[in-house]
Amino acid sequence: MKLSGKVALVTGSSQGIGQAIAIRLAQEGADVVINYRSHPEGAEETLSKVKAAGGQCHMVEGFTIQADTGMVQDVQRMVADSVEHFGKLDILVNNAGIEKSADFWDVTEADYDAVMNVNLKGVFFATQALVKHLRETQQPGKVINISSVHEELPFPHFSAYCASKGGLKMLTRNLSVELAPWGITVNNVAPGAIETPINTKLLNDSEKLGALLKNIPLGRLGKPSDVASIVAFLASAESDYVTGTTFFVDGGLLWNYQEQ
Ligand code: BGC
Repeated sequence: MKLSGKVALVTGSSQGIGQAIAIRLAQEGADVVINYRSHPEGAEETLSKVKAAGGQCHMVEGFTIQADTGMVQDVQRMVADSVEHFGKLDILVNNAGIEKSADFWDVTEADYDAVMNVNLKGVFFATQALVKHLRETQQPGKVINISSVHEELPFPHFSAYCASKGGLKMLTRNLSVELAPWGITVNNVAPGAIETPINTKLLNDSEKLGALLKNIPLGRLGKPSDVASIVAFLASAESDYVTGTTFFVDGGLLWNYQEQ
């Protein structure tokens, strides 16, 4: 088991990729803090799966916390409550994310703020809260940000989303250098098209889905577990020499340009 004795906080883990990550980290032996914003029932489902993932060979504990990761006060409270509950925090997975589709000229300030607050500002200050805790306790740590292929690839009609993920790419690079002396590594995992609630509209639109599948060399959408397995690696000591890097989990989508 790669993560016995470790405590991990996974934001946005009441559904989708976050839920799969929480379960996978528990399978590796970590105690897990499950964060949700508005779906306590989803968080409870994750919690029971986390406990079950522990199985009989080891005990794994879970704990759910409501927090809007787009609000600085909330993320600070979330990290403080995690530390209080488990006595420490080793791993932070900044997974919560939102996207809103609109033509660039129609994007409202409210929608821009909502996307940037969750996808970038909340990540910034949750990571800061973890880093303060790790420095105080002189412990190493792992930060894993769930970014997107769109930290690199344009996504017309999702301009705020792309700006947030591009920002996340540079935040990771910057922090990897600044935090290395403290034994804290920072990496991004960048999913492509994954079967999750964020893609509900797309999954129900067979024309759009067909066009997207043609762009994915491996010929299928990803599963949340495809993302969770690389997060488990990055959370473990096996990746101790890896920092400041993005791992794409996209079936080849990012580099698939072919002349017709
Ligand atoms: C977005 C999805 C999109 C995928 C591939 C993800 O970051 O959240 O809506 O389908 O990228 O473009």
